[in-house]
Amino acid sequence: MLTTTKKILAAADRGGYAVGAFNTNNLEITKAIIEAAVEAKSPVIIQTSEGAIGYAGLGYLTAIIREAARAPVPVAMHLDHGKDPKTIRAAIRSGYTSVMVDASSLPFGKNVTETKKVVGWAHAKGISVEAEIGAISGVEDLVSVSEREAFFTDPEEAAEFVRLTGCDSLAISVGTAHGAFKSKIKPKLDIGRLAEIDRLVKIPLVLHGASGIPQGLVRRLDRECERLGDCGRLAGAVGIPDTEIRKAIRNGIRKINVDSDLRIAFTVGLRDTILDERSSFDPRRLMRRSGEEIRKTVSAKMLLFGSSGRA
Ligand code: G3H
Ligand code: 13P
Ligand code: ZN
Repeated sequence: MLTTTKKILAAADRGGYAVGAFNTNNLEITKAIIEAAVEAKSPVIIQTSEGAIGYAGLGYLTAIIREAARAPVPVAMHLDHGKDPKTIRAAIRSGYTSVMVDASSLPFGKNVTETKKVVGWAHAKGISVEAEIGAISGVEDLVSVSEREAFFTDPEEAAEFVRLTGCDSLAISVGTAHGAFKSKIKPKLDIGRLAEIDRLVKIPLVLHGASGIPQGLVRRLDRECERLGDCGRLAGAVGIPDTEIRKAIRNGIRKINVDSDLRIAFTVGLRDTILDERSSFDPRRLMRRSGEEIRKTVSAKMLLFGSSGRA
């Protein structure tokens, strides 16, 4: 059932677990996410980026997610990385249960102003707002820990930001990065900093860029690569280890965003099908294994995050 993101995260806070927020772009991905949630009896957040909306259209995506939300588990519909005020307002009008305003690249004062504006629009409609402080994207290019730390969230600043904006959840930067190439060194989260943020900030904390980039799937992408002439397309790809994710949840993370792992799973399924079923030209058949790979990936996340069995 469509449930507010606020309720889903409040329950996670009480239970000491995290809820996965999975990015979708189409029918197949959405169906696979919801099937995994039903099987795991887990609450789930289905989110769309501005890129996804540009690709599929807001109307199609909301219709698909609403249909998915008829499932017997709590489902939230969330706008990921809202940067364009027009898209944020359209999402609020279209029945999203929460929106993210991402003004994290702006100076502190401007981030506060932009976030407050969105909080005003959203709260007037009973919708909650995720905001971001600290930089999550782009840090993968930085090698040394001190270089990376310059982008990390400052705990006191985070507390002040929440007080000034009235946002409902907060995305923070403690060592994750978007995409499949998260770090040139072994990814390790700044758990001390996270614990301090959790002590000072009383709203649910959100971890972006949290994909694990499973090496088993990365290896499967290379199947028959010599013949196809594209070996090692994800060579050097590194994700956040499960051990770090567990520590993050123990220290207050309540929403975990996953997109890259789903993209890899989808591509592995599609590629396997194309290699194994060469005579097929039926799109429904071609995308079936992609759905299965995504379902398995999402199920594993629900177990890892501790949300399985909480619905
Ligand atoms: O954090 C961003 C998500 O991975 C969405 O990516 O903007 O390419 O849809 P996208
Ligand atoms: P990944 O690239 O690690 O999957 O992160 C996705 C994300 O943060 C979406 O907002
Ligand atoms: Zn993100």
